[in-house]
Amino acid sequence: MRILGISGSLRRDSHNTGLLRAAARALPPGAELVRFDGLAELPPFDEDADVTPGPGPVERLRAAIAEADAVLISTPEYNASVPGVLKNAIDWASRPFPDNSLRGKPVAIVGASTGLFGAVWAQAELRKVLHHTGADVVDAELPVGMADYAFDADGDLADPELRERLRELVEALAREVEAPLATW
Ligand SMILES: Cc1cc2nc3c(=O)[nH]c(=O)nc-3n(C[C@H](O)[C@H](O)[C@H](O)COP(=O)(O)O)c2cc1C
Repeated sequence: MRILGISGSLRRDSHNTGLLRAAARALPPGAELVRFDGLAELPPFDEDADVTPGPGPVERLRAAIAEADAVLISTPEYNASVPGVLKNAIDWASRPFPDNSLRGKPVAIVGASTGLFGAVWAQAELRKVLHHTGADVVDAELPVGMADYAFDADGDLADPELRERLRELVEALAREVEAPLATW
């Protein structure tokens, strides 16, 4: 099973990219996490450029999503919402609507922030946006607050309870691949 990991942060030492690395170590047997690292190459969404085929980096994003069995997105919170680069990527991926690469795709959301609340607002916004694209968003979420102190020297979540919740979340995502929601 191939899970595409997307970090909403371009920062070199991003906690959200670190959270994806921790998730990769918590996967059930038979699952692999492949990171999409092309967010910075995506042009700003422009409906005039929304032609077929789209710009190269956009087609790479769409293909990466289409080829994955599931997607795991780790989002920072910028000003109580989703970072612009991540929203931009989802806007590109959402086209052509309704037959976009996210439609019916099992997706799970996690998030890390340096404040207390672990990007809960960004995760809620991302859930709303992904629902609109037709993605099959799993219920579980994982807010990792105080991210400067949340990881141990090996890059795993230091809090055993959070570590367990991350493991349960990726297992729920894998189960969703096996038994997706009925579409109506
Ligand atoms: C432009 C900007 C806005 C931010 N707004 C919030 C916010 O609304 N809530 C929050 O908890 N943290 C906020 N932060 C702090 C981020 O949680 C912190 O920078 C975090 O480490 C970003 O994720 P990363 O480590 O994956 O890059 C903001 C940071 C930036 C740069």
